[in-house]
Amino acid sequence: MDSELPRTLNVDNFEMRFADVANVELSQLHALSISVGWPHRAADWQHLLDIGKGYVALDEIGRVGASAMWFPHGPDFTTFGMLITSPRLQTNGTAKWLMERIMADCGHTCIRLNSTRDARRLYSLLGFKPKRTVYQCQGTVIPPIAGPLPLEDGLVLRRLDRNDLDAVIAFDAPAFGVDRRVHMLRLFDSSVGYGLYEGQQLRAFSMRRRFGKGHVVGPVIARNDEDAIRVTHPHVAAHIDGFLRLDTHFDTGPFATFIQQSGLVIYDTVTTMVRQEAASYGTGEDGNPVVYGMVSQSLG
Ligand SMILES: CC(C)(COP(=O)(O)OP(=O)(O)OC[C@H]1O[C@@H](n2cnc3c(N)ncnc32)[C@H](O)[C@@H]1OP(=O)(O)O)[C@@H](O)C(=O)NCCC(=O)NCCS
Repeated sequence: MDSELPRTLNVDNFEMRFADVANVELSQLHALSISVGWPHRAADWQHLLDIGKGYVALDEIGRVGASAMWFPHGPDFTTFGMLITSPRLQTNGTAKWLMERIMADCGHTCIRLNSTRDARRLYSLLGFKPKRTVYQCQGTVIPPIAGPLPLEDGLVLRRLDRNDLDAVIAFDAPAFGVDRRVHMLRLFDSSVGYGLYEGQQLRAFSMRRRFGKGHVVGPVIARNDEDAIRVTHPHVAAHIDGFLRLDTHFDTGPFATFIQQSGLVIYDTVTTMVRQEAASYGTGEDGNPVVYGMVSQSLG
């Protein structure tokens, strides 16, 4: 820990101190995210604890008043997430205090995060620049959904298994910006995935897992809208009348139309913000694949 940063902070009537998020009861973290209306289940927190690090602010009697986490993706790059201050303690400087701590401790200068409206001012003060909008699309899947797009000759759409892991990681890396093997391994354990293959070549893939109020589809990685629809369609078809969520940078075009017409309407928007990140992320330059669906707002 960086000794320059204060170890305690007076917040309202409480003296708050740092603690490692890994040493806190899951039920306390769950209560914190519920207090700000977030949908995470205890299992969703556990997923994040399995692959991330972070701090909480504890009061004198050990109650969790705030949290902040980071998720390393390789040696040079990290995403931030789960920045929450309990409503009764907000606007007292707690989130800034935790953010300064995790920025000092994470050891990464290239950072990406997805900011709610409440947090934008804070992140701007800390040097993050807005980059893209994220459309949080969710809702009950309404029948009839559009039929699957036809597959051209030589294309095969099939369920992913462990043997596809290396192909998935290699295809995902230029879209996401870095190789996120550790995260993909964790996702494979808890997701149903589909891959679109042209011969031995992976052309697009998607995953879905339990999250919050229902299921989330993500990541979805493809080179064009049509392939993105092809790999997303089986997840939507499997959840007719069920609650589904997909976070995407697209609000127009065939992919956005497909998910919105299936009942996943734009529920909220957040802003992707970055510190010292390569400009080419997510642009699909040089024929690179593109992120059509994010894993989550914390993991990108
Ligand atoms: C966003 C959030 C974490 C801020 O926590 P906090 O402890 O109140 O933040 P701080 O007191 O450290 O404030 C940091 C800066 O942000 C500003 N700020 C805090 N809340 C704000 C809000 N709702 N709207 C605009 N600015 C806000 C503060 O004024 C402060 O700026 P200043 O130093 O110039 O005064 C908190 O509002 C929250 O938990 N919101 C719900 C969950 C969420 O949106 N998390 C962010 C995920 S990206």
